[in-house]
Amino acid sequence: MKITEEQKQSLEKIYQAFLNDEKIIRMKKISMHRGSNCYIHSFRVAKRAIKRALGSFRKNINLELVLLGAILHDYYLYDWREDKSKLHGHGKNHPYIASENAEKDFDIPIEVKKIIKSHMWPINFSEYPKTREAKIVSIADKIVSLKEALTSIKFKAKRKDRYLEHIKSLF
Ligand SMILES: [Fe+2]
Ligand SMILES: [Fe+2]
Repeated sequence: MKITEEQKQSLEKIYQAFLNDEKIIRMKKISMHRGSNCYIHSFRVAKRAIKRALGSFRKNINLELVLLGAILHDYYLYDWREDKSKLHGHGKNHPYIASENAEKDFDIPIEVKKIIKSHMWPINFSEYPKTREAKIVSIADKIVSLKEALTSIKFKAKRKDRYLEHIKSLF
């Protein structure tokens, strides 16, 4: 899928606004797979999802929905490592919590909520990602999560810097 320089710039602008948004920055406090945190993870998923969409032969993918859905897909804002009561059911519940939080804090279309809610499929078996945009985000999340989980814990500190450098811009 090809996009113009103008479209690229507009996506980058959205990406940068979220990257520097104080509400979004709160995700830095939520630890995730080795050396990552919710903030780093979400922007990594956003970059990967956009890359995937641009690599697709299809022309009718809404990149803005992909971008918003990816950035907000894990906007659940609690750390189950600190609050063990949240651990039970986290896999199934967090997409709904993230979707509610996202709706409260940002002006997002219903399609973005659907992307967020369906990103954990098939764990959330009834929430099948029906749209192309939702499928792209769900797959990008799985790839990034797997990569984060598989990397060795030994280089945790180093990795964090590398991750932060990597997510500095969308393109
Ligand atoms: Fe998630
Ligand atoms: Fe995720």
